[in-house]
Amino acid sequence: MTAPDPRIAELASRPRTSPPLVMLTAYDFGSARIADAAGVDLVLVGDSAATVMLGLSSTRDISLDELLMLTRAARRGTTNALLVGDLPFGSYESSDAQAVATARGFGEAGCDLVKVEGAVALPRVRAIIASGMPVIGHVGLLPQGAATPADLRARGRIADEALAIVGGAVALAGAGCSALVVEAVPSPVAEAISIRIAIPVIGIGAGAAVGGQVLVYHDLLGLGDGRTPKFVRPYASLRNDAIAAVRAYASDVRARRFPTRSEEYGMPEAERVAFEERVASEFPGPAMRA
Ligand code: KIV
Repeated sequence: MTAPDPRIAELASRPRTSPPLVMLTAYDFGSARIADAAGVDLVLVGDSAATVMLGLSSTRDISLDELLMLTRAARRGTTNALLVGDLPFGSYESSDAQAVATARGFGEAGCDLVKVEGAVALPRVRAIIASGMPVIGHVGLLPQGAATPADLRARGRIADEALAIVGGAVALAGAGCSALVVEAVPSPVAEAISIRIAIPVIGIGAGAAVGGQVLVYHDLLGLGDGRTPKFVRPYASLRNDAIAAVRAYASDVRARRFPTRSEEYGMPEAERVAFEERVASEFPGPAMRA
Protein backbone atom coordinates (compact mmCIF):
# COMPACT_ATOMS: atom_id res chain seq x y z
CA MET A 1 0.00 0.00 0.00
CA THR A 2 1.54 3.33 -1.05
CA ALA A 3 1.25 6.40 1.20
CA PRO A 4 -1.64 8.76 0.31
CA ASP A 5 -0.59 11.62 -1.98
CA PRO A 6 -0.64 14.80 0.18
CA ARG A 7 -1.86 16.77 -2.84
CA ILE A 8 -5.23 14.99 -2.63
CA ALA A 9 -5.82 16.11 0.97
CA GLU A 10 -4.75 19.63 -0.05
CA LEU A 11 -7.24 19.55 -2.91
CA ALA A 12 -10.11 18.36 -0.74
CA SER A 13 -9.47 20.95 1.96
CA ARG A 14 -8.61 23.83 -0.37
CA PRO A 15 -9.80 27.06 1.25
CA ARG A 16 -12.72 28.78 -0.47
CA THR A 17 -10.62 31.96 -0.61
CA SER A 18 -7.92 30.29 -2.78
CA PRO A 19 -7.68 31.20 -6.46
CA PRO A 20 -10.04 29.05 -8.56
CA LEU A 21 -8.69 25.66 -9.62
CA VAL A 22 -7.94 25.19 -13.30
CA MET A 23 -8.86 21.86 -14.85
CA LEU A 24 -8.56 21.00 -18.54
CA THR A 25 -9.22 17.80 -20.42
CA ALA A 26 -6.34 16.18 -22.31
CA TYR A 27 -6.32 12.86 -24.06
CA ASP A 28 -2.79 12.04 -25.16
CA PHE A 29 0.89 12.81 -24.61
CA GLY A 30 0.85 16.03 -26.64
CA SER A 31 -2.28 17.61 -25.20
CA ALA A 32 -1.32 16.65 -21.64
CA ARG A 33 2.15 18.15 -22.12
CA ILE A 34 0.60 21.41 -23.28
CA ALA A 35 -1.88 21.55 -20.40
CA ASP A 36 0.84 20.69 -17.89
CA ALA A 37 3.32 23.19 -19.33
CA ALA A 38 0.63 25.88 -19.09
CA GLY A 39 0.34 25.13 -15.37
CA VAL A 40 -3.18 23.74 -15.01
CA ASP A 41 -3.95 22.17 -11.62
CA LEU A 42 -5.75 19.09 -12.92
CA VAL A 43 -5.65 17.22 -16.23
CA LEU A 44 -8.84 15.25 -16.88
CA VAL A 45 -8.76 12.40 -19.35
CA GLY A 46 -12.48 12.84 -19.95
CA ASP A 47 -14.80 10.44 -21.67
CA SER A 48 -15.41 13.39 -24.01
CA ALA A 49 -12.47 11.69 -25.78
CA ALA A 50 -15.22 9.60 -27.39
CA THR A 51 -16.40 12.53 -29.47
CA VAL A 52 -13.37 14.80 -29.82
CA MET A 53 -10.69 12.11 -30.25
CA LEU A 54 -12.48 9.07 -31.67
CA GLY A 55 -15.24 10.77 -33.68
CA LEU A 56 -17.97 8.79 -31.93
CA SER A 57 -21.40 10.34 -31.51
CA SER A 58 -21.71 9.93 -27.73
CA THR A 59 -19.49 9.71 -24.66
CA ARG A 60 -21.28 6.42 -23.99
CA ASP A 61 -19.51 4.81 -26.93
CA ILE A 62 -15.89 4.85 -25.72
CA SER A 63 -14.63 1.59 -24.25
CA LEU A 64 -12.65 1.19 -21.05
CA ASP A 65 -9.62 -0.07 -22.99
CA GLU A 66 -9.72 2.91 -25.34
CA LEU A 67 -9.87 5.38 -22.46
CA LEU A 68 -7.10 3.58 -20.57
CA MET A 69 -4.84 3.73 -23.60
CA LEU A 70 -5.39 7.51 -23.86
CA THR A 71 -4.88 7.84 -20.10
CA ARG A 72 -1.48 6.13 -20.22
CA ALA A 73 -0.43 8.54 -22.97
CA ALA A 74 -1.67 11.54 -20.97
CA ARG A 75 0.24 10.24 -17.93
CA ARG A 76 3.48 10.39 -19.93
CA GLY A 77 2.76 14.04 -20.69
CA THR A 78 1.74 15.11 -17.17
CA THR A 79 4.47 16.04 -14.72
CA ASN A 80 2.99 18.54 -12.28
CA ALA A 81 -0.79 18.50 -12.53
CA LEU A 82 -2.98 15.91 -10.85
CA LEU A 83 -4.18 13.38 -13.42
CA VAL A 84 -7.86 12.44 -13.32
CA GLY A 85 -9.36 9.47 -15.18
CA ASP A 86 -13.03 9.46 -16.13
CA LEU A 87 -14.78 6.13 -15.56
CA PRO A 88 -16.56 5.42 -18.85
CA PHE A 89 -20.17 4.37 -19.28
CA GLY A 90 -20.65 0.68 -18.46
CA SER A 91 -17.40 0.31 -16.53
CA TYR A 92 -18.58 0.85 -12.93
CA GLU A 93 -22.36 0.67 -12.61
CA SER A 94 -22.94 -3.09 -12.21
CA SER A 95 -21.31 -3.71 -8.85
CA ASP A 96 -18.88 -2.30 -6.31
CA ALA A 97 -16.37 -4.94 -7.40
CA GLN A 98 -16.61 -3.78 -11.03
CA ALA A 99 -16.24 -0.12 -9.97
CA VAL A 100 -13.20 -0.86 -7.80
CA ALA A 101 -11.54 -2.96 -10.51
CA THR A 102 -12.08 -0.20 -13.09
CA ALA A 103 -10.77 2.49 -10.74
CA ARG A 104 -7.73 0.29 -10.03
CA GLY A 105 -7.12 0.11 -13.79
CA PHE A 106 -7.02 3.90 -13.94
CA GLY A 107 -4.66 3.90 -10.95
CA GLU A 108 -2.36 1.50 -12.79
CA ALA A 109 -2.56 3.80 -15.83
CA GLY A 110 -1.15 6.55 -13.60
CA CYS A 111 -4.22 8.46 -12.40
CA ASP A 112 -4.17 10.32 -9.10
CA LEU A 113 -7.98 10.39 -8.94
CA VAL A 114 -10.95 9.10 -10.90
CA LYS A 115 -14.14 10.94 -11.79
CA VAL A 116 -17.51 9.22 -11.53
CA GLU A 117 -20.71 10.61 -13.04
CA GLY A 118 -23.86 10.97 -10.99
CA ALA A 119 -25.05 10.66 -7.42
CA VAL A 120 -26.84 7.41 -8.28
CA ALA A 121 -23.35 5.92 -8.28
CA LEU A 122 -23.01 6.71 -4.56
CA PRO A 123 -22.33 3.13 -3.34
CA ARG A 124 -19.78 2.72 -6.14
CA VAL A 125 -18.13 5.99 -5.13
CA ARG A 126 -17.91 4.82 -1.52
CA ALA A 127 -16.40 1.50 -2.59
CA ILE A 128 -13.79 3.15 -4.81
CA ILE A 129 -12.76 5.57 -2.06
CA ALA A 130 -12.58 2.70 0.45
CA SER A 131 -10.25 0.89 -1.96
CA GLY A 132 -7.84 3.83 -1.71
CA MET A 133 -8.54 5.66 -4.97
CA PRO A 134 -9.69 9.28 -4.50
CA VAL A 135 -12.83 10.28 -6.41
CA ILE A 136 -14.16 13.44 -8.02
CA GLY A 137 -17.96 13.40 -8.24
CA HIS A 138 -19.97 14.88 -11.11
CA VAL A 139 -23.51 16.31 -10.92
CA GLY A 140 -25.80 18.46 -13.07
CA LEU A 141 -25.72 17.48 -16.72
CA LEU A 142 -24.43 13.90 -16.92
CA PRO A 143 -23.43 13.27 -20.54
CA GLN A 144 -23.34 9.48 -19.97
CA GLY A 145 -27.05 9.65 -19.23
CA ALA A 146 -27.81 11.42 -22.51
CA ALA A 147 -29.38 8.99 -24.95
CA THR A 148 -29.62 11.63 -27.72
CA PRO A 149 -27.85 14.97 -28.41
CA ALA A 150 -31.08 16.74 -27.36
CA ASP A 151 -30.47 15.41 -23.83
CA LEU A 152 -27.27 17.48 -23.64
CA ARG A 153 -28.99 20.53 -22.11
CA ALA A 154 -28.75 22.50 -18.89
CA ARG A 155 -30.10 20.88 -15.75
CA GLY A 156 -31.61 22.32 -12.56
CA ARG A 157 -33.57 25.12 -14.19
CA ILE A 158 -36.66 24.19 -12.21
CA ALA A 159 -36.59 24.14 -8.40
CA ASP A 160 -37.31 20.43 -7.93
CA GLU A 161 -34.54 19.38 -10.27
CA ALA A 162 -32.15 21.96 -8.78
CA LEU A 163 -32.83 20.62 -5.28
CA ALA A 164 -32.19 17.06 -6.42
CA ILE A 165 -28.83 18.17 -7.84
CA VAL A 166 -27.90 19.92 -4.58
CA GLY A 167 -28.92 16.76 -2.69
CA GLY A 168 -26.72 14.63 -4.91
CA ALA A 169 -23.78 16.99 -4.47
CA VAL A 170 -24.12 16.99 -0.68
CA ALA A 171 -24.32 13.18 -0.66
CA LEU A 172 -21.21 12.83 -2.85
CA ALA A 173 -19.26 15.20 -0.61
CA GLY A 174 -20.47 13.22 2.42
CA ALA A 175 -19.31 10.01 0.74
CA GLY A 176 -15.76 11.34 0.77
CA CYS A 177 -15.22 12.79 -2.73
CA SER A 178 -12.17 15.04 -3.01
CA ALA A 179 -13.83 17.52 -5.38
CA LEU A 180 -17.00 17.81 -7.43
CA VAL A 181 -17.61 18.71 -11.08
CA VAL A 182 -20.89 20.56 -11.61
CA GLU A 183 -21.94 20.72 -15.25
CA ALA A 184 -24.46 22.97 -17.03
CA VAL A 185 -26.55 24.27 -14.17
CA PRO A 186 -27.71 27.83 -13.40
CA SER A 187 -25.16 29.72 -11.31
CA PRO A 188 -27.41 30.03 -8.20
CA VAL A 189 -27.58 26.22 -8.10
CA ALA A 190 -23.81 25.86 -8.39
CA GLU A 191 -23.31 28.53 -5.75
CA ALA A 192 -25.77 26.83 -3.40
CA ILE A 193 -23.72 23.63 -3.75
CA SER A 194 -20.43 25.43 -3.31
CA ILE A 195 -21.41 27.00 0.00
CA ARG A 196 -22.87 23.75 1.36
CA ILE A 197 -19.96 21.41 0.80
CA ALA A 198 -16.38 21.70 2.02
CA ILE A 199 -14.70 20.21 -1.08
CA PRO A 200 -13.99 22.39 -4.13
CA VAL A 201 -16.68 22.65 -6.79
CA ILE A 202 -15.28 22.75 -10.31
CA GLY A 203 -17.80 24.18 -12.73
CA ILE A 204 -18.38 23.78 -16.44
CA GLY A 205 -21.26 25.94 -17.58
CA ALA A 206 -22.05 26.59 -13.91
CA GLY A 207 -21.06 30.25 -13.51
CA ALA A 208 -18.30 31.91 -11.56
CA ALA A 209 -19.37 31.36 -7.93
CA VAL A 210 -17.52 28.06 -7.64
CA GLY A 211 -14.01 26.92 -6.71
CA GLY A 212 -12.69 26.16 -10.18
CA GLN A 213 -13.42 25.75 -13.87
CA VAL A 214 -12.98 22.94 -16.37
CA LEU A 215 -13.14 23.08 -20.15
CA VAL A 216 -12.65 20.58 -22.94
CA TYR A 217 -9.24 21.01 -24.62
CA HIS A 218 -10.66 21.09 -28.15
CA ASP A 219 -13.24 23.74 -27.19
CA LEU A 220 -10.70 26.00 -25.49
CA LEU A 221 -8.34 25.86 -28.46
CA GLY A 222 -11.02 26.15 -31.15
CA LEU A 223 -10.13 22.77 -32.65
CA GLY A 224 -13.69 21.64 -33.37
CA ASP A 225 -15.91 22.37 -36.34
CA GLY A 226 -19.31 22.01 -34.71
CA ARG A 227 -21.36 24.25 -32.44
CA THR A 228 -20.10 24.54 -28.90
CA PRO A 229 -22.23 25.08 -25.78
CA LYS A 230 -22.77 28.72 -24.72
CA PHE A 231 -20.37 28.38 -21.78
CA VAL A 232 -17.36 27.65 -24.00
CA ARG A 233 -14.90 30.46 -24.51
CA PRO A 234 -12.47 29.59 -27.31
CA TYR A 235 -9.06 31.10 -26.55
CA ALA A 236 -7.69 30.28 -30.01
CA SER A 237 -8.92 29.09 -33.40
CA LEU A 238 -6.42 26.33 -34.00
CA ARG A 239 -8.66 24.44 -36.43
CA ASN A 240 -8.54 27.38 -38.85
CA ASP A 241 -4.82 27.83 -38.24
CA ALA A 242 -4.20 24.12 -38.82
CA ILE A 243 -6.21 24.03 -42.04
CA ALA A 244 -4.36 27.12 -43.31
CA ALA A 245 -1.02 25.49 -42.43
CA VAL A 246 -1.86 22.21 -44.18
CA ARG A 247 -3.14 24.12 -47.25
CA ALA A 248 0.13 26.08 -47.39
CA TYR A 249 2.12 22.82 -47.15
CA ALA A 250 0.04 21.22 -49.93
CA SER A 251 0.45 24.26 -52.12
CA ASP A 252 4.24 24.36 -51.56
CA VAL A 253 4.58 20.63 -52.34
CA ARG A 254 2.53 20.95 -55.54
CA ALA A 255 4.49 24.04 -56.66
CA ARG A 256 7.84 22.36 -55.74
CA ARG A 257 8.58 25.11 -53.18
CA PHE A 258 9.01 22.43 -50.49
CA PRO A 259 11.52 21.06 -49.70
CA THR A 260 14.41 23.45 -50.47
CA ARG A 261 18.13 22.65 -50.36
CA SER A 262 18.32 23.76 -46.73
CA GLU A 263 15.77 21.07 -45.86
CA GLU A 264 17.80 18.24 -47.50
CA TYR A 265 20.53 15.95 -46.13
CA GLY A 266 23.87 16.31 -47.92
CA MET A 267 26.70 13.81 -48.42
CA PRO A 268 30.47 14.35 -48.72
CA GLU A 269 31.37 15.10 -52.36
CA ALA A 270 33.71 12.07 -52.70
CA GLU A 271 30.95 9.77 -51.40
CA ARG A 272 28.45 11.31 -53.80
CA VAL A 273 30.79 10.72 -56.77
CA ALA A 274 31.44 7.12 -55.67
CA PHE A 275 27.75 6.55 -55.18
CA GLU A 276 26.81 7.94 -58.62
CA GLU A 277 29.37 5.67 -60.29
CA ARG A 278 28.35 2.54 -58.42
CA VAL A 279 24.59 3.00 -58.43
CA ALA A 280 24.61 3.22 -62.23
CA SER A 281 26.44 -0.11 -62.55
CA GLU A 282 24.99 -1.98 -59.56
CA PHE A 283 21.38 -0.92 -60.14
CA PRO A 284 20.93 -0.34 -63.89
CA GLY A 285 18.17 2.24 -64.31
CA PRO A 286 14.51 1.46 -64.95
CA ALA A 287 12.66 2.60 -68.03
CA MET A 288 12.43 6.38 -68.18
CA ARG A 289 9.14 7.85 -67.01
CA ALA A 290 7.45 10.69 -68.84
O1 KIV B 1 -15.48 14.11 -20.22
C1 KIV B 1 -15.37 15.32 -19.97
O2 KIV B 1 -14.78 16.09 -20.74
C2 KIV B 1 -15.98 15.84 -18.75
C3 KIV B 1 -15.91 17.31 -18.52
C4 KIV B 1 -16.93 17.98 -19.36
C5 KIV B 1 -16.07 17.66 -17.09
O3 KIV B 1 -16.51 15.09 -18.00
